[in-house]
Amino acid sequence: MRGIMTELLQADPEGVTRAAAMLRDGKLVAFGTETVYGLGADATDADAVAAIFLAKGRPRFNPLICHYPSAEAAFLDVVADARARAVARAFWPGPLTVILPRRPGCAVALLTGAGLDTLGVRVPDHPVANLLLHRAGRAIAAPSANRSGHVSPTSAAHVLDGLDGRIDAVLDSGPCAVGVESTVLDLSGSQPVLLRPGGVTLEALEACLGPVQLGAPIDGAAGSGALRSPGLLASHYAPSLPVRLDAVSVAENEALLAFGPPPAGGRCVFQLSYSGSTAEAAARLFQGLRWLDAEGARLGAIGIAAMPVPDKGLGAAIQDRLRRAAAPRGQIGRE
Ligand code: TXA
Ligand code: MG
Repeated sequence: MRGIMTELLQADPEGVTRAAAMLRDGKLVAFGTETVYGLGADATDADAVAAIFLAKGRPRFNPLICHYPSAEAAFLDVVADARARAVARAFWPGPLTVILPRRPGCAVALLTGAGLDTLGVRVPDHPVANLLLHRAGRAIAAPSANRSGHVSPTSAAHVLDGLDGRIDAVLDSGPCAVGVESTVLDLSGSQPVLLRPGGVTLEALEACLGPVQLGAPIDGAAGSGALRSPGLLASHYAPSLPVRLDAVSVAENEALLAFGPPPAGGRCVFQLSYSGSTAEAAARLFQGLRWLDAEGARLGAIGIAAMPVPDKGLGAAIQDRLRRAAAPRGQIGRE
């Protein structure tokens, strides 16, 4: 690995200008969005994109998504049909990634999309990210700014926890408001397919598009040919302590990820939302997993008990991330 100095840049005009110049210069710059921090690089520069894969330890078959300041800019790189334009109008800027066919002659490096003939595109809803993307003036590839297989970062400090010395800079724009990654919607085929639940709910997508199919099994174990979204393997977002789902009680030697009034017991408790708000819980989820992992282990806990969250609306994205955190470890290519 490169063993480089990672600069911490403030989200002021000077910091954003420097971050944009670094991106244009082929450097790796992490930046905040409304969902999680992304690890950005010039998507048209194959060497810069290769450096993302290396810094994250990410398998090269797992495609990266491209970020743009506007739908107009995004649709220069992909072919947008009426459905794509409708979701762009309804949800951009916002936590939605749309998978569409690449345009012939699109300048985005093939490595960015892992050689697929589709590309994931997104317009983040964050003023600093938006300014940065404007200034960069080209598609910016940005997976979540964590080491592959680890929990996504929702603060600059989280980014440094995993990537300090491996990337050129972090632009600190404070904590992420949504807290879970974007919804990934595949519009490259005749039927809309939800590949990853996220910040835009299935219910909202269906209100805009009509019925949306749920993605094929994402754990790679189905044996039914190519994975539709190679990065969406079951084991993901994994803390080092094992996670027990749908906990209604907590053992003496467990740490508790609470949602609503907690049962008695446990080594330490992180409250996602005492009032039962899924928006509050999503914003605190990754911070909670990180905290329980460190604090629970320090106190000798042998696992994390996660209370259930309603499996609809934003709760579906939270439950999805919890299931991945609880999935068997060590699968090749987990992201
Ligand atoms: O909220 C987010 O989406 C964040 C912020 C930084 O924008 N980014 C993010 O990127 O979560 P990443 O790489 O961690 O997750 C994107 C997912 C990956 O699992 C990848 O496999 C899938 O989207 N993906 C990307 N391009 C694809 C494509 N052409 N076809 C199918 N799936 C794709
Ligand atoms: Mg990720």
